[in-house]
Amino acid sequence: MADGQISFDPPRGMRDFYPEDMEWRTRVFDAFRAAGDAAGFSRYDACVVESYELLARKAGEEVSNQIYLFEDKSGRKLALRPEMTPTLARMIAARQKQLSFPVKWTTVAQCFRYERMTKGRKREHYQWNLDIVGEDSVAAEAEVLGAACDALRRMGLPDGAYKVRVSSRALLGELLDASGIPQEKHASVFLALDKRGKIPDSEIAAILRDGGLDDAAAEAAFGLLAVDSLDAAAAKAAPGSKAVASLRELFALAQTAGFADRLVFDISVIRGLSYYTGIVFEAFDTAGEFRAIFGGGRYDNLLTAIGGAPTPAVGLGFGDVVVTELLKARLGSDAGRARRGYAVGFMFPEQRDAAFRLAARLRAAGERVDLALRNQKPKQFFARAGAGDCAKAVFIGPDDVARGTAMAKDLATREQAEISIG
Ligand code: HAM
Repeated sequence: MADGQISFDPPRGMRDFYPEDMEWRTRVFDAFRAAGDAAGFSRYDACVVESYELLARKAGEEVSNQIYLFEDKSGRKLALRPEMTPTLARMIAARQKQLSFPVKWTTVAQCFRYERMTKGRKREHYQWNLDIVGEDSVAAEAEVLGAACDALRRMGLPDGAYKVRVSSRALLGELLDASGIPQEKHASVFLALDKRGKIPDSEIAAILRDGGLDDAAAEAAFGLLAVDSLDAAAAKAAPGSKAVASLRELFALAQTAGFADRLVFDISVIRGLSYYTGIVFEAFDTAGEFRAIFGGGRYDNLLTAIGGAPTPAVGLGFGDVVVTELLKARLGSDAGRARRGYAVGFMFPEQRDAAFRLAARLRAAGERVDLALRNQKPKQFFARAGAGDCAKAVFIGPDDVARGTAMAKDLATREQAEISIG
């Protein structure tokens, strides 16, 4: 780039949404909102800029190193939120006495993380959040997972195209206990094991040793990830394990609700955020080509961690980036296109009034109308309409005005039907 020349690209990792990108975004957001509504969640929103104090957390979590941090002119430490959950916890804590629990809230929030850029990871993304606060029954997990599966169906993704991998930190905690790894080490073991597959095992072993685990304990922690079924985990867990019972209950509820075919138990799902305390889950495409579609779990201690009253909570974050890549790959990159409404054009300036009248009538009837701003040759008009996003096109010539009707052409089927322009 020549000196002083401004780049036409957005800053690295940030996105522009041209109209064709907005078509996809609308499809995805509409599904988020419809699924949230269908499951009875209330919408909320918050500021994108958050106090750094709320977001600053223990080391070891990837997200804490990815925060866009800045100072305002008064020296306040502020951040662009990397996720919504701390903000949600702050908002709930601020009204804890007034709210009637359980609270079921949803939002589509823009989040910023200074990520290493890879497929499916940007430095800015929109994240659908769905949280139930104030409920310790596993019905809450079933409801958020059911809503996420519903959203994917509404987007047009076949049920067989993805799986939600489910595990439980409480279960892994019990298994670590049984392997003689003390409670105070569990949080750092979770974060280390979550890096499995992202960094070499030798580096994870080194992190575990740095965290105070001897070789035998590190070996035992790795060994747990080889447990390949809930029955195998139950055999290792204490008899009457609550964590195992919760997982079984969740799978049974999913069966009743009709999405159990998309759930699988996978002990290696741990999650990279330290606030999770119970069931955790992450959804992936079945072909294994993309990063996580969504992720979440139970976080019963976050409210107390920020100074609120003890309140159990469950939720998930579902980004727009991976799911859009997946939908394009599975449905074709043109599938985001939703043709709707009318393109209305006219041949000579004398027909402009007729075109304006028709547009006004269609708009009053609730139709979307892209009205030509000047007269055109039919070829020009239909070429533009065909390349655009309208479903039907009406081109008005002198004879049409004389007759009081014109032809509305369906741009997909090419069928024509008479429309009154009187
Ligand atoms: P998370 O796993 O960090 O969880 O993010 C949730 C989802 O957001 C991911 O599965 C992915 O779809 C999307 N996502 C995250 N980072 C990026 C990125 N850099 N680029 C594109 N997409 C991204 C959370 O954030 C939790 N707060 C979710 C939650 C809500 N847990 C409970 N309630």
